[in-house]
Amino acid sequence: MSDIIMEMKNIIKDFPGVRALDGVNFNVMKAEIHALVGENGAGKSTLMKILSGVHTEYEGDIYLHGKKVKFRGTRDAEEVGIAIIYQELNLISGLSVAENIFLGSEPVKYGALMDYKKMYKETRKLLSRFQLDVDPEEIIKNLPIGKQQMIEIVKAISKNAEILIFDEPTSALTQKEAEYLFEIIDSLIKDGVTVVYISHRMEELFKLSDRITVLRDGATVGTWKRKDLTHDSLVKQMVGRDIKEIYPKIENKPGDVVLKVENYSVNHPLRAGEKIVRDVNFELRKGEILGIAGLMGSGRTELIESIFGAFPADSSGDIFLYGKKENITSPRYAIDKGMGLVTEDRKRLGLILMLSVAKNMTLSILDKVRNLFFIREKKEQEIVRRYIDYLRIKTPNQDFIVNHLSGGNQQKVILGKWLSAEPEILILDEPTRGIDIGAKSEIYNIIKKLCEEGVSIIMVSSELPEVLKLSNRIIIMHEGKMQTIIPAGDATQEKIMHFATGGE
Ligand SMILES: Nc1ncnc2c1ncn2[C@@H]1O[C@H](COP(=O)(O)OP(=O)(O)OP(=O)(O)O)[C@@H](O)[C@H]1O
Ligand SMILES: [Mg+2]
Repeated sequence: MSDIIMEMKNIIKDFPGVRALDGVNFNVMKAEIHALVGENGAGKSTLMKILSGVHTEYEGDIYLHGKKVKFRGTRDAEEVGIAIIYQELNLISGLSVAENIFLGSEPVKYGALMDYKKMYKETRKLLSRFQLDVDPEEIIKNLPIGKQQMIEIVKAISKNAEILIFDEPTSALTQKEAEYLFEIIDSLIKDGVTVVYISHRMEELFKLSDRITVLRDGATVGTWKRKDLTHDSLVKQMVGRDIKEIYPKIENKPGDVVLKVENYSVNHPLRAGEKIVRDVNFELRKGEILGIAGLMGSGRTELIESIFGAFPADSSGDIFLYGKKENITSPRYAIDKGMGLVTEDRKRLGLILMLSVAKNMTLSILDKVRNLFFIREKKEQEIVRRYIDYLRIKTPNQDFIVNHLSGGNQQKVILGKWLSAEPEILILDEPTRGIDIGAKSEIYNIIKKLCEEGVSIIMVSSELPEVLKLSNRIIIMHEGKMQTIIPAGDATQEKIMHFATGGE
């Protein structure tokens, strides 16, 4: 085929103790959207980091327009038109939007001085081209995650690449932002740009891609035209077995009220006098799954983090645990009272990336293992082993540094960390974000088991099918307010969207 512009041949990549890629073949054509899919840890990000010059040590060859290339760094790859938007955000949080976009290619004035005026002007132009309502001088860490992700995308696009790699770009975007991104990708393709697109979201893959390559355990399973695949056949290629129904039938019987939240409000973190959560009232029963739906930014995360004691100074209202009024002044206190919180953003709250899998998992159960002074090490290892097996976390051993796990496996470690604490009330914020479809169905089965054993669960999720299929009741939030609460049996995707966008 003559329109193949880039080809990777027999790529092998070893990390200490792990063979991440074992003879992968991959090619892209001009102006196509090529989806790269596979389970967590299959090697997608690693392959793309080789293509974009992040990893420079590997075996095998890369050909660009028929000519063999070897990059010494990302700068080399960018020079020949290959840019990547990383799975994990890669912005410098203390710098401004403009500084981040121009990092490494800052406009200079009089030879040496950085031309801030020009930088802000250029940034403003870029932002408006993408209809992004962000101040170029705003410091990155003050922006919500979705906006940060959009800035990353703008930054990569501003490099005018010929091959643009998106590694799970939509996992932190709102529906609206994601749709906007698809429009951007569309126009890039029209300009002749080739897009490599990594995602675990099936609908997206089928909507966007021209061709799909599947990786499994570091090897290429195959490349297909999208129209030659169905949802089921693709899943089968990815996981190597049939998965017919990913949602288990849950037979829980909610009991007494365990948590009651009354007139609950939370101050807006940035805008004084404004509330990000307003007058929320609900009850959670023993063994119940209470879903919370709503658009991103509707206050869902702030509500649950605040109940968990994250911002005691900024919240008001009453919380009752088992009928007793409690003043939850810190996450530590919440944990002592039998609560657990799996956060949506693994970098910020979920994990200590430089510690091992084992240490991260046992952080929340230190007390439990501390009592067993002598057998501590052994006990700890036992618990960790159990959850690595249970969640099928892909790691060479317990002492592996979390930072070196694939994104989805990091998410599983967070889950393991909280499950090992055996909470009675478990709060999950986007529990399956970035998780492959096989592991998703495992997590759903764990949720089923937990609630049937009497654990009460609050689950915030943007995946409507997940909320609909697992919850007993669903709270729908809109702009900080609880728009309604309905039994899941009465809910449909359309109904949820109606309330989530402010409908009565
Ligand atoms: N810096 C590193 N050091 C050691 N091992 C690594 C490193 N980066 C990745 N790995 C390992 O390589 C394998 C492939 O990881 P990779 O991140 O490419 O998976 P992925 O397909 O992107 O998964 P996900 O869908 O979870 O993002 C995993 O087993 C991972 O633990
Ligand atoms: Mg990845």
